[in-house]
Amino acid sequence: MADTDGKPGRNCALCPRLATFRNRWREKEPTWFNAPVPSFGPLDARLLIVGLAPGLQGANRTGRPFTGDYAGVLLYETLARYGFARGEYAAHPDDGLKLIDCRITNAVRCVPPENKPTPAEINTCREFLIATIAEMRKLTAILALGRIAHDSAVTALGAKKSATPFKHGGAHKLGEIKLFSSYHCSRYNTNTGVLTPEMFRKVFANIRTYLES
Ligand code: URA
Repeated sequence: MADTDGKPGRNCALCPRLATFRNRWREKEPTWFNAPVPSFGPLDARLLIVGLAPGLQGANRTGRPFTGDYAGVLLYETLARYGFARGEYAAHPDDGLKLIDCRITNAVRCVPPENKPTPAEINTCREFLIATIAEMRKLTAILALGRIAHDSAVTALGAKKSATPFKHGGAHKLGEIKLFSSYHCSRYNTNTGVLTPEMFRKVFANIRTYLES
């Protein structure tokens, strides 16, 4: 269930399928995090990055978004390149990596089977995305990684999906916030060339230009 502060509790049972999956993994791997993965980065950041959901052996194991996930390698390297991270990313929450003016969260906080949350789970978990957005007083830009994160962010911001389509490299001004979107930096997308490091960097270059303009 939700804590009073708009964050899912460790034993959140709002999505029965995800709770069952999580409990199975708690039994199998008791040393793993196996709980809703909290956002990472300072509350007063201007940029919020929205991923899809924790990877089973990545964020679900380590407890930090994109940490231990293949996708984290490109993400954290690109964040450092554009001044949004400092330190060495070593795929571990104790690696000392610091995010600067940037925070990372997920559209769905619990690991879904096969990396695929259902539409109902995405809708249910949106209350936590809305709370995350609301608590960031200096929020200026959101980067959605992939269509699911994009659509959930659009709904969280109170806009219509039909008027705000997903496009890699696209951006929409929604009230006070500019929503940027990118293909997800997943292993599949990078291995197949759907997303190259150059394409990903261009998105961050645009965000950096926007924040400094
Ligand atoms: N790890 C996350 O935390 N989120 C993703 O979207 C992918 C991997």
